[in-house]
Amino acid sequence: MATVGILGGTGPAGRGVAARLASAGYAVVLGSRDAEGTVEGGTNEEAAACNLVVVATPWDSAIATTGALRQGLKGKIVISMVNALAREGREMVALYPARGSMAAQIAHALPESVVVGAFHHLPAALMEDLGSDLDADVLIFSDDDDARRQVAEMIDRVGGLRAVIAGSMSLASPIEAFTAVCISINIRHKTHSYVKMSGL
Ligand SMILES: NC(=O)c1ccc[n+]([C@@H]2O[C@H](COP(=O)([O-])OP(=O)(O)OC[C@H]3O[C@@H](n4cnc5c(N)ncnc54)[C@H](OP(=O)(O)O)[C@@H]3O)[C@@H](O)[C@H]2O)c1
Repeated sequence: MATVGILGGTGPAGRGVAARLASAGYAVVLGSRDAEGTVEGGTNEEAAACNLVVVATPWDSAIATTGALRQGLKGKIVISMVNALAREGREMVALYPARGSMAAQIAHALPESVVVGAFHHLPAALMEDLGSDLDADVLIFSDDDDARRQVAEMIDRVGGLRAVIAGSMSLASPIEAFTAVCISINIRHKTHSYVKMSGL
């Protein structure tokens, strides 16, 4: 089974993905800028050495983080779960980064890697709580058919998640921006809702 590295894996988003993947039998390296003090962690460089790499840093540090690892990430599938958002009162608003999405920005920073988008709408608290009754869809997009199929196969092995291949990188912008809707609903209704497509 593939090993999965998570850049910025010490945050709630990375920890949540790691918990679910580990429960499905994947070996996961939680990358950090500083490996000191982490239990199962390593550096972001060690995480980048894994077969599959997830970007789970804040949006405004994702390009610097991935760009610095460009050589190590060459030829790999890099999964972006990054959303560019800002809080305004009781709502989140979507920001529109250069190139329209964070996934496209990361793809531009990593021209020798294959970028796939996934995990954008999942509430970290439910991901990390393996005892929750999470039953979520993970919308996946990429311009590379094989890479998005590989990511979908990995996600389908994970309890509580169903992979849904949405389509190409052209969907990155609306999929990332929709996270603002999800979080705003969660703030307003004091809950952790998530995306589930009906009729599939
Ligand atoms: N939270 C959620 O429920 C959720 C769900 C889906 C997607 N996401 C997305 O996942 C990403 C991470 O979310 P999060 O809530 O886990 O974020 P976070 O806690 O703010 O940051 C995650 C990790 O990124 C590293 N980091 C922080 N500032 C950095 C910088 N300036 N440069 C490089 N690394 C830095 C930190 O790790 P070290 O200090 O150990 O290096 C931190 O633990 C975001 O893009 C978010 O939009 C979040």
